[in-house]
Amino acid sequence: MARVLSCIQPTGDVHLGNYLGALRNWVSGQHANDVFHGIVDLHALTITDKPGVLGKNTVELAAMLFAVGLDPEVATVFVQSHVPEHSQLGWIMECTVSFGELSRMTQFKDKSAKREADFVSAGLFTYPALQAADILLYDAAEVPVGDDQRQHIEITRDIAVRFNHRFGDTFFLPKAVTPPAGARVMDLLDPTSKMSKSSETDAGCVYLLDAPSAIEKKFKRAVTDSENEVRYDREAKPGIANLLDILSAVTGTSPQQLADQYTQYGALKSDCGAAVAAMLTPIQSRYTELMNDKAELGRLLRIGAEKAGTVAQATLARAHDAIGFYPR
Ligand code: TYM
Repeated sequence: MARVLSCIQPTGDVHLGNYLGALRNWVSGQHANDVFHGIVDLHALTITDKPGVLGKNTVELAAMLFAVGLDPEVATVFVQSHVPEHSQLGWIMECTVSFGELSRMTQFKDKSAKREADFVSAGLFTYPALQAADILLYDAAEVPVGDDQRQHIEITRDIAVRFNHRFGDTFFLPKAVTPPAGARVMDLLDPTSKMSKSSETDAGCVYLLDAPSAIEKKFKRAVTDSENEVRYDREAKPGIANLLDILSAVTGTSPQQLADQYTQYGALKSDCGAAVAAMLTPIQSRYTELMNDKAELGRLLRIGAEKAGTVAQATLARAHDAIGFYPR
């Protein structure tokens, strides 16, 4: 059984990119592996400045993680701030990564550029150090993520190697695992940018809680190109390739094979919308049921925090021993 860890930020509604790029893989791997999944509220704090928002988003995200199929009997689902070892190892990671390495992170460059005149916290800059702590605390072998997180997994490996070299073998080296289709779901209105909660408008981003009619409408309006040939070419035809990738992720048929089945853009768009809406309908009903029992969600998260805490405490103690802090 491989130890698997991956996390998601409670920054608002979960979208199709999160689901196809990551969550679906979390669910499919949960019975074959020993899996830990964190709701990383400390990461979301890097861009949150209003009271109460994180707590509300956290419980909603917990309901969504169980609604997409994580089984609390086998998967450990926990809230990052409930396991203080994340912050504690986070500091040690900050002391193991360089300013230069952090400066090269594309996610920091993108996010800080988008915030322009807004407050750019130091936490946004040191974010990958905390993410390294999230992963290394659990001795994770595999980290199922979308493509956009690969760089953060690479820097985690670099940090682990440096720590092990300085203080002796302590951390296990993880590897990123991305799905064959859906690793990079693009915005429907701007298919050269990844689908994201921070997109300019909601029209290019499909949320898991969107009504079926809204989903179909978003796909009908998807930006394509001025040709009329359905062909899988990510460079020349990013809009069509994105639709084929999404349909491929939902149906399991390869994007090239799907391309051969369509002559019209309109039919591809409507089939894509219908397939996504059908996939999400049962998830939406489970979500509604789960949100009606917040006490149960709280109970499950407490169990998750206990289990995660046991593993995290042991790893942090190992790191402290390796460093050789004077014992208390
Ligand atoms: P976050 O919260 O932005 O996204 C959660 C997961 O969704 C994937 N994802 C996508 N996949 C495909 N296409 C897209 N358009 C798309 N958008 C998002 C992400 O790759 C991710 O797997 N830094 C992380 C959270 C994190 C984490 C960790 C992840 C903190 N600690 C430890 C793994 C391990 C993030 O911001 O993900």
